[in-house]
Amino acid sequence: MPYIKKDFIERLIDRVDIVDVIGARLTLKRSGSSYMCCCPFHNEKTPSFSVSQQKQFYNCFGCHKSGNVLGFIMDYDQLSFPEAVEQLAKEAGVQVEYEESAGHAPEKKEREVDFYDILERAALLFEAELPRHPEALKYLHDRGLSDDTLRRYHVGFAPESWDYLIKNLAGDNQKILKAMTDLGLVNQGQQGKVYDTFRNRVIIPIRDKRGRTIAFGGRVLDNSKPKYINSRESPVYKKGHELFNLDAIRNLRDKNLPYIMITEGYMDVIALEQAGIHNAVASLGTATTPEQMNLLFKQADRIIFCYDGDAAGRNAAWHALNTALPALSDDKQLQFCFLPPEHDPDTLVRSQGAKAMLDYLEHAESLPEYIIATLRNQYNVDDEGGRINCIDRAAEILSLMPDAILTRAAVEKRLADLVGWSQEGLHGSIDDSIEKLRARKAVRGPESTGAGGSGSRMDPNTIPLNPMRAVVARLVKDPELMRAIPEPDKLVAVLREYANDRCQVLLDLMGKIKANPDTTTGALLEKYRDSGKIGDLISLLAARSDAAIEEEGFVEIKIIDLMHYIKAILQEHLTARKQALRIKGRREGGLSNEELIEVQFLETATRQLQPSRKS
Ligand code: UTP
Ligand code: MN
Repeated sequence: MPYIKKDFIERLIDRVDIVDVIGARLTLKRSGSSYMCCCPFHNEKTPSFSVSQQKQFYNCFGCHKSGNVLGFIMDYDQLSFPEAVEQLAKEAGVQVEYEESAGHAPEKKEREVDFYDILERAALLFEAELPRHPEALKYLHDRGLSDDTLRRYHVGFAPESWDYLIKNLAGDNQKILKAMTDLGLVNQGQQGKVYDTFRNRVIIPIRDKRGRTIAFGGRVLDNSKPKYINSRESPVYKKGHELFNLDAIRNLRDKNLPYIMITEGYMDVIALEQAGIHNAVASLGTATTPEQMNLLFKQADRIIFCYDGDAAGRNAAWHALNTALPALSDDKQLQFCFLPPEHDPDTLVRSQGAKAMLDYLEHAESLPEYIIATLRNQYNVDDEGGRINCIDRAAEILSLMPDAILTRAAVEKRLADLVGWSQEGLHGSIDDSIEKLRARKAVRGPESTGAGGSGSRMDPNTIPLNPMRAVVARLVKDPELMRAIPEPDKLVAVLREYANDRCQVLLDLMGKIKANPDTTTGALLEKYRDSGKIGDLISLLAARSDAAIEEEGFVEIKIIDLMHYIKAILQEHLTARKQALRIKGRREGGLSNEELIEVQFLETATRQLQPSRKS
């Protein structure tokens, strides 16, 4: 596929207005300096989704999704990055400009390492290994998997070697090795020695919804621990945003899926597929997240959580319930299916067949049934205190659902029967409780979504700030402020010399703003797409509210004051270094030429850093 020109993307973002683009999809209302509406990424009644024209940036104070115009199109239209660029270009009425790909070989050398390409090649290598390892094949065959199924899922094997993948993929190429490390295919030991992550394990490639390999799961062949190791999260793999097998479901011919079942393990999905049950996905070793729920509800109106009947399975289900409730609506249903404690879908379908599995699914509990059954187990409703606690808990659960939804009435009806209250009385009492709960939440501020789901968006207002981050936050939120920094070039030179490690993000950001002083938050974020941790930090800081910056103790601190603060830290460094050199000179009766030059530099730097006379 041809690459889109990077500077085309930047020009495109400059040209369009995020308010028009989002306004074409949602009804925006002007509110002060920005536009607001109800967030399209989570369910809510009062608007917390804000779009800033000045910043070319959107931000939801409820679920903490934020980003620029391309990020919005990707999430809202469910498109990949290049697809989103093409869509945006279409809306702006311009032609996408692609890199010219004349003369392949020399160009490829210049190109940045492509993560997807590396993962695809790793998957091919692992898959090609499988037939060479009879013990692995035997293990899989003993699990009842046919060669056809193994091929369909590109199941592979990682040989027992510390550098099989390193040798075969990277060789001496440091760029590839670095990418492999970023992708979690390679680990670094204590002495900096690198080695393959996956060794002597059956390998299951994990693909994104478009079918690209983005990660791997590796299973041991015996009972040793850990049973599975998985790729860590990377720029192309965010656990909470992916579901194993979603690509296959999206490609199913029959688009009218009655339901999708969520299982706990990928081996479950594979066994179900072989048994002819094609509509299963697996979460990837984490609790289900709101993002995953939204992805699934795009494919089917009914989702059945299918969990083991043991305590762990019941726990996982209760947790899943809490994340799923906000995504509910009258035409989106949740059900819960519990298998006998000794089974998971894999063992059940193998020992009892697909028909038995479908029977269990057929008898899955409805959401109200499940909620009431769980409450009945937790509280003794024969007792007045138990009844009150049970109702309080129910109110908590109901408060997570969108208002006026049919499911709520169904839960209340059953609950009224359970505690022996009238339905009207119960309804009023629950309304009161919900109101109180929500009022309390409003005081505490928006709750972080996903309750521990590692893939859920972090609340940008909770990451700790230091002066450096506070400056970065201010600058990315308002690049104009760069103009307020006195003598930025000098400052950059000194920072670079003496605090390069600690100021990298700031230096980088200042460089980008300097190159384009009229840039916006949205345009800046585009420059940080795919830059891993730095990009994540910058986009979190961009979404941080000014109030939260001030709460951290950076009250009323203007950017100039923060720069002075940084200067003060630097000054301390300079003074300490000068002191050290002076002592050394005295002790050794002189300094080397290089050290003398350094002293001179230190003197100059100190002078440069003198606080400019306040006017
Ligand atoms: P299970 O322990 O239920 O595994 O974990 P399973 O899928 O039934 O595996 P088999 O049948 O023994 O091979 C469910 C999921 O939790 C994650 C994996 O994603 C697994 O599919 N998991 C489990 C890990 O990541 N690491 C582990 O050590 C165990
Ligand atoms: Mn299993």
